[in-house]
Amino acid sequence: AFRSLAAAELTLAIVKPDGISGNHTNSIKNIILQSGFTIHTQATLHLHQHTVTAFYAEHSTKTFFPSLVKYMTSGPVLIMVLEKVNAIADWRTLIGPTDARKAKITHPDSIRAMCGEDLERNCVHGSDSHESAAREISFFFPDSLSVFMLLLSTGRSN
Ligand code: PPS
Repeated sequence: AFRSLAAAELTLAIVKPDGISGNHTNSIKNIILQSGFTIHTQATLHLHQHTVTAFYAEHSTKTFFPSLVKYMTSGPVLIMVLEKVNAIADWRTLIGPTDARKAKITHPDSIRAMCGEDLERNCVHGSDSHESAAREISFFFPDSLSVFMLLLSTGRSN
């Protein structure tokens, strides 16, 4: 038990506005739990445009950015910290490709194939690396002790 605890990883998952409004939250949570993740922390928030702008700062110069901000502020989102061995890569595998239209063809069992529509309305988010996970979890949950532990383990593995 201690070994698997030591190897556990955290990642940030978001059910985006189309996932919530399409009533996909329960199915997504069932997939999460059946896949061996623990939902470590969760919060439903209606994000402010300043929050979305800061969260997606690395994309701020992209032409799609204003549209992404409008979409991500269009309704509430469910933000979750997921915990599991290999959580970051395994959550990315479960959600499938960014473009939900492609996911429906190449990864029909993925979450984005199930509830996403396209490159923007792709239903869910997942951290894409250890660095992103550390930044994104501490962005939404800055006071969490687990974040501190994640930052320690990230430093060790890199
Ligand atoms: S990039 O350009 O490769 O760095 O972008 P990518 O990693 O594919 O996507 C980053 C997030 O931006 C969203 N995105 C878009 N939104 C609206 N319109 C367009 N064209 C578009 N392209 C990408 C995409 O859904 C990603 O969101 P997250 O939450 O990270 O999945």
